[in-house]
Amino acid sequence: MPKKLDLTDNLEQYIINHSENLSDVQNEIIQHNKSLGDQQRLQISISQAHFLQTLIKVSNVKKILEIGSFTGFSALSMAMALPLDGILISLDKNYEFSSKAKSFYAKANEKRIKQIIKPAVESLKELKDTKKSFDLIFIDADKENYLNYYETSIDLIDKKGLIIIDNVLWHGEVADNANNDKFTNIIRDFNNHVKQDKRVTKNIIPVGDGLTICIKN
Ligand SMILES: C[S@@+](CC[C@H](N)C(=O)[O-])C[C@H]1O[C@@H](n2cnc3c(N)ncnc32)[C@H](O)[C@@H]1O
Repeated sequence: MPKKLDLTDNLEQYIINHSENLSDVQNEIIQHNKSLGDQQRLQISISQAHFLQTLIKVSNVKKILEIGSFTGFSALSMAMALPLDGILISLDKNYEFSSKAKSFYAKANEKRIKQIIKPAVESLKELKDTKKSFDLIFIDADKENYLNYYETSIDLIDKKGLIIIDNVLWHGEVADNANNDKFTNIIRDFNNHVKQDKRVTKNIIPVGDGLTICIKN
Protein backbone atom coordinates (compact mmCIF):
# COMPACT_ATOMS: atom_id res chain seq x y z
CA MET A 1 0.00 0.00 0.00
CA PRO A 2 1.38 3.48 -0.82
CA LYS A 3 2.25 5.89 1.98
CA LYS A 4 -0.85 7.69 3.29
CA LEU A 5 -1.33 11.21 1.88
CA ASP A 6 -1.56 14.15 4.24
CA LEU A 7 -4.07 16.32 2.38
CA THR A 8 -2.76 19.73 3.43
CA ASP A 9 -4.32 23.01 2.16
CA ASN A 10 -1.22 23.36 -0.01
CA LEU A 11 -1.73 19.96 -1.64
CA GLU A 12 -5.49 20.59 -2.03
CA GLN A 13 -4.63 23.83 -3.88
CA TYR A 14 -2.19 21.92 -6.10
CA ILE A 15 -4.96 19.44 -6.96
CA ILE A 16 -7.34 22.29 -7.84
CA ASN A 17 -4.66 24.00 -9.95
CA HIS A 18 -4.15 20.81 -11.95
CA SER A 19 -7.82 19.97 -12.47
CA GLU A 20 -10.41 21.60 -14.74
CA ASN A 21 -10.80 25.35 -14.22
CA LEU A 22 -13.90 26.52 -12.41
CA SER A 23 -16.29 28.81 -14.30
CA ASP A 24 -16.53 32.49 -13.38
CA VAL A 25 -19.87 31.94 -11.64
CA GLN A 26 -18.60 28.92 -9.67
CA ASN A 27 -15.74 31.14 -8.47
CA GLU A 28 -18.20 33.90 -7.64
CA ILE A 29 -20.31 31.54 -5.50
CA ILE A 30 -17.20 30.44 -3.61
CA GLN A 31 -16.23 34.08 -2.97
CA HIS A 32 -19.78 34.86 -1.84
CA ASN A 33 -19.78 31.86 0.52
CA LYS A 34 -16.44 32.99 2.02
CA SER A 35 -18.10 36.31 2.86
CA LEU A 36 -20.67 34.38 4.98
CA GLY A 37 -18.06 33.38 7.59
CA ASP A 38 -18.73 30.01 9.24
CA GLN A 39 -21.55 29.18 6.84
CA GLN A 40 -19.02 28.77 4.02
CA ARG A 41 -18.42 25.29 5.43
CA LEU A 42 -21.87 24.24 4.22
CA GLN A 43 -20.60 24.21 0.63
CA ILE A 44 -19.12 21.03 -0.86
CA SER A 45 -15.40 21.19 -1.65
CA ILE A 46 -14.05 21.94 -5.13
CA SER A 47 -12.68 18.38 -5.34
CA GLN A 48 -16.13 17.02 -4.52
CA ALA A 49 -17.63 19.18 -7.30
CA HIS A 50 -15.06 17.82 -9.77
CA PHE A 51 -15.74 14.26 -8.62
CA LEU A 52 -19.52 14.66 -8.99
CA GLN A 53 -19.10 16.22 -12.45
CA THR A 54 -16.95 13.29 -13.55
CA LEU A 55 -19.47 10.75 -12.27
CA ILE A 56 -22.36 12.53 -14.01
CA LYS A 57 -20.47 12.58 -17.31
CA VAL A 58 -19.31 8.96 -17.29
CA SER A 59 -22.69 7.65 -16.12
CA ASN A 60 -24.73 9.62 -18.69
CA VAL A 61 -26.86 11.04 -15.89
CA LYS A 62 -29.80 13.18 -17.10
CA LYS A 63 -32.15 13.66 -14.14
CA ILE A 64 -30.66 14.87 -10.86
CA LEU A 65 -32.36 15.57 -7.53
CA GLU A 66 -30.39 17.58 -4.98
CA ILE A 67 -31.53 17.70 -1.35
CA GLY A 68 -29.87 20.76 0.25
CA SER A 69 -28.61 23.45 -2.14
CA PHE A 70 -27.44 26.37 0.02
CA THR A 71 -26.24 29.12 -2.38
CA GLY A 72 -26.03 26.81 -5.37
CA PHE A 73 -22.39 25.72 -5.76
CA SER A 74 -23.06 21.97 -5.89
CA ALA A 75 -26.25 22.34 -7.98
CA LEU A 76 -24.58 24.59 -10.55
CA SER A 77 -21.50 22.34 -10.71
CA MET A 78 -23.63 19.24 -11.29
CA ALA A 79 -25.91 20.98 -13.81
CA MET A 80 -22.85 22.06 -15.81
CA ALA A 81 -22.00 18.36 -16.32
CA LEU A 82 -25.49 17.47 -17.59
CA PRO A 83 -26.37 17.09 -21.26
CA LEU A 84 -28.41 19.94 -22.79
CA ASP A 85 -31.71 18.14 -22.17
CA GLY A 86 -30.79 17.27 -18.57
CA ILE A 87 -32.64 18.55 -15.52
CA LEU A 88 -31.74 19.15 -11.87
CA ILE A 89 -34.39 19.67 -9.21
CA SER A 90 -32.96 21.41 -6.19
CA LEU A 91 -34.65 21.24 -2.78
CA ASP A 92 -34.00 23.70 0.03
CA LYS A 93 -36.25 25.27 2.65
CA ASN A 94 -34.27 28.50 3.05
CA TYR A 95 -35.57 31.43 0.95
CA GLU A 96 -32.50 33.62 1.40
CA PHE A 97 -30.04 30.93 0.25
CA SER A 98 -32.36 29.87 -2.57
CA SER A 99 -32.82 33.36 -3.96
CA LYS A 100 -29.04 33.89 -3.93
CA ALA A 101 -28.61 30.55 -5.71
CA LYS A 102 -31.23 31.57 -8.27
CA SER A 103 -29.29 34.75 -9.05
CA PHE A 104 -26.13 32.69 -9.67
CA TYR A 105 -27.98 30.25 -11.96
CA ALA A 106 -29.31 33.21 -13.97
CA LYS A 107 -25.86 34.75 -14.19
CA ALA A 108 -24.50 31.42 -15.49
CA ASN A 109 -27.45 31.24 -17.93
CA GLU A 110 -28.17 27.84 -16.40
CA LYS A 111 -31.78 26.94 -17.20
CA ARG A 112 -31.73 23.24 -16.29
CA ILE A 113 -32.11 23.86 -12.53
CA LYS A 114 -35.64 23.98 -11.02
CA GLN A 115 -35.89 25.02 -7.38
CA ILE A 116 -38.48 23.83 -4.87
CA ILE A 117 -38.35 25.91 -1.69
CA LYS A 118 -39.95 24.17 1.29
CA PRO A 119 -38.99 21.45 3.80
CA ALA A 120 -37.48 18.62 1.77
CA VAL A 121 -39.65 15.94 3.40
CA GLU A 122 -42.72 17.66 1.85
CA SER A 123 -41.08 18.07 -1.57
CA LEU A 124 -39.97 14.45 -1.59
CA LYS A 125 -43.49 13.26 -0.79
CA GLU A 126 -44.84 15.29 -3.72
CA LEU A 127 -42.17 13.94 -6.07
CA LYS A 128 -43.03 10.41 -4.97
CA ASP A 129 -46.80 10.96 -5.27
CA THR A 130 -46.34 12.26 -8.81
CA LYS A 131 -44.13 9.25 -9.65
CA LYS A 132 -41.03 11.27 -10.53
CA SER A 133 -37.77 9.36 -10.94
CA PHE A 134 -34.09 10.34 -11.05
CA ASP A 135 -30.83 8.77 -12.09
CA LEU A 136 -28.77 10.65 -9.48
CA ILE A 137 -29.85 11.91 -6.05
CA PHE A 138 -27.42 13.98 -3.97
CA ILE A 139 -28.23 14.20 -0.25
CA ASP A 140 -26.66 17.17 1.58
CA ALA A 141 -29.28 18.70 3.92
CA ASP A 142 -30.11 18.37 7.65
CA LYS A 143 -28.45 15.29 9.10
CA GLU A 144 -31.42 14.44 11.38
CA ASN A 145 -33.41 13.59 8.25
CA TYR A 146 -30.68 11.70 6.35
CA LEU A 147 -32.39 8.35 6.95
CA ASN A 148 -35.77 9.73 5.71
CA TYR A 149 -34.11 11.26 2.66
CA TYR A 150 -32.26 8.03 1.91
CA GLU A 151 -35.34 5.82 2.24
CA THR A 152 -37.42 8.08 -0.02
CA SER A 153 -34.51 8.29 -2.46
CA ILE A 154 -34.58 4.50 -2.80
CA ASP A 155 -38.16 4.88 -4.11
CA LEU A 156 -37.29 7.78 -6.42
CA ILE A 157 -34.10 6.42 -7.95
CA ASP A 158 -34.04 4.40 -11.17
CA LYS A 159 -32.44 0.94 -11.21
CA LYS A 160 -28.65 1.37 -11.52
CA GLY A 161 -29.11 5.02 -10.49
CA LEU A 162 -26.80 6.70 -7.97
CA ILE A 163 -27.63 7.96 -4.48
CA ILE A 164 -24.73 10.06 -3.18
CA ILE A 165 -24.57 11.24 0.42
CA ASP A 166 -22.24 13.95 1.76
CA ASN A 167 -20.57 14.30 5.18
CA VAL A 168 -20.48 10.58 5.93
CA LEU A 169 -17.04 10.85 7.59
CA TRP A 170 -18.13 13.83 9.75
CA HIS A 171 -14.65 15.37 9.89
CA GLY A 172 -13.25 11.93 10.79
CA GLU A 173 -15.27 11.81 14.03
CA VAL A 174 -17.22 8.67 13.01
CA ALA A 175 -14.12 6.53 13.59
CA ASP A 176 -13.34 8.03 17.02
CA ASN A 177 -15.08 5.73 19.53
CA ALA A 178 -14.54 8.30 22.28
CA ASN A 179 -16.82 10.75 20.47
CA ASN A 180 -20.48 10.23 21.21
CA ASP A 181 -22.00 13.57 20.32
CA LYS A 182 -25.44 13.72 18.73
CA PHE A 183 -24.42 14.37 15.13
CA THR A 184 -21.55 11.89 15.12
CA ASN A 185 -23.99 9.22 16.29
CA ILE A 186 -26.60 10.23 13.70
CA ILE A 187 -24.03 9.81 10.91
CA ARG A 188 -22.75 6.53 12.42
CA ASP A 189 -26.28 5.10 12.59
CA PHE A 190 -26.89 6.26 9.04
CA ASN A 191 -23.67 4.64 7.78
CA ASN A 192 -24.58 1.39 9.57
CA HIS A 193 -28.02 1.46 7.92
CA VAL A 194 -26.55 1.90 4.42
CA LYS A 195 -23.89 -0.76 5.05
CA GLN A 196 -26.51 -3.44 5.78
CA ASP A 197 -28.84 -2.36 2.95
CA LYS A 198 -28.94 -5.09 0.31
CA ARG A 199 -30.90 -2.87 -2.12
CA VAL A 200 -27.72 -0.95 -3.00
CA THR A 201 -24.05 -1.51 -3.77
CA LYS A 202 -22.18 1.07 -1.75
CA ASN A 203 -18.72 2.52 -1.16
CA ILE A 204 -17.40 5.46 0.84
CA ILE A 205 -15.02 7.74 -1.07
CA PRO A 206 -12.81 10.00 1.11
CA VAL A 207 -13.21 13.20 -0.89
CA GLY A 208 -14.16 16.35 1.03
CA ASP A 209 -16.03 15.30 4.18
CA GLY A 210 -16.67 11.84 2.72
CA LEU A 211 -19.18 10.76 0.07
CA THR A 212 -21.07 7.47 0.05
CA ILE A 213 -21.85 6.36 -3.48
CA CYS A 214 -24.77 3.92 -3.66
CA ILE A 215 -25.82 2.17 -6.85
CA LYS A 216 -29.38 0.84 -6.75
CA ASN A 217 -29.28 -2.87 -7.52
C1 LIG B 1 -24.81 21.64 3.74
S1 LIG B 1 -25.93 22.79 3.03
C2 LIG B 1 -25.97 22.33 1.33
C3 LIG B 1 -24.70 22.74 0.61
C4 LIG B 1 -24.79 22.65 -0.89
N1 LIG B 1 -24.99 21.27 -1.32
C5 LIG B 1 -23.51 23.21 -1.49
O1 LIG B 1 -22.60 22.43 -1.79
O2 LIG B 1 -23.40 24.43 -1.59
C6 LIG B 1 -27.46 22.23 3.66
C7 LIG B 1 -28.68 22.95 3.12
O3 LIG B 1 -29.83 22.22 3.53
C8 LIG B 1 -30.87 23.11 3.79
N2 LIG B 1 -31.81 22.44 4.70
C9 LIG B 1 -31.64 22.15 6.02
N3 LIG B 1 -32.71 21.53 6.50
C10 LIG B 1 -33.58 21.39 5.46
C11 LIG B 1 -34.87 20.82 5.33
N4 LIG B 1 -35.49 20.24 6.38
N5 LIG B 1 -35.47 20.86 4.13
C12 LIG B 1 -34.85 21.43 3.07
N6 LIG B 1 -33.64 22.00 3.13
C13 LIG B 1 -33.01 21.98 4.32
C14 LIG B 1 -30.21 24.33 4.39
O4 LIG B 1 -31.03 25.47 4.18
C15 LIG B 1 -28.88 24.37 3.63
O5 LIG B 1 -28.97 25.25 2.55
